Amino acid sequence: MAIRDVLKMGDPRLLEPARPVEDFAALELAQLIVDMYDTMRALNGAGLAAPQIGVGLQVVMFEVSANPRYPDAESVPFTVLVNPVLTPLSDEIEEGWEGCLSVPGMRGLVPRHTALRYQGFDAGGQPLDRSVSGFHARVVQHEVDHLRGILYPMRIRDLRHFGFTETLFPGQNLQDD
Ligand code: NI
Repeated sequence: MAIRDVLKMGDPRLLEPARPVEDFAALELAQLIVDMYDTMRALNGAGLAAPQIGVGLQVVMFEVSANPRYPDAESVPFTVLVNPVLTPLSDEIEEGWEGCLSVPGMRGLVPRHTALRYQGFDAGGQPLDRSVSGFHARVVQHEVDHLRGILYPMRIRDLRHFGFTETLFPGQNLQDD
C-alpha cells in the first residue's frame, strides 16, 4: 500500500493508450488498485486512472460523496472499472466543469455525453454493466479518456472557459478530480 506520485500534464506517459488487463488474479493488479485508492483518497480526488500513476493498464476508479454545498455533484458509488467500454445512450451533449489530479488547481468546461452505458469488469473480474447519466456519466468519461491518452483540456471547446480554480470559483475550496 502506498500513495503514489500522480503524473502531471506534460508527461508523455499520460498521452499513451493503456493496455487491457488480462490476468485478474495477478497480485500486481490487486496492489495497483490499493495504491490507486490510497492515492485518490490522499489527494481528495473524485477519480483516478492507472496511467496517472504511470501504469499503462485499463483500470480506473471513481467515487463522489454527496456534498450539500454542491448539490449539482450528485454522489457516485465507489467503483473500480477495468477494461471499460462506453456506449452513449443518446446524442445529447452537456457542458460541465471538470478538474483533474494531473492538471492540479485548474478547471475547464468540458462537453460530455449526458447518458451512457458502461461495461467492463470490477476488481475481481466480475462483469459490470451500468447505464448512468449526469455527473456519474461525466466522471466515467473523464476517467476512461485517461486510458486513451486524452486529458480534459484537450476537449475544451472554448479555452476562455479554462482557468485556475481559485479564480473561477473563489472561496469554494473545490476538490480535484
Ligand atoms: Ni483526470
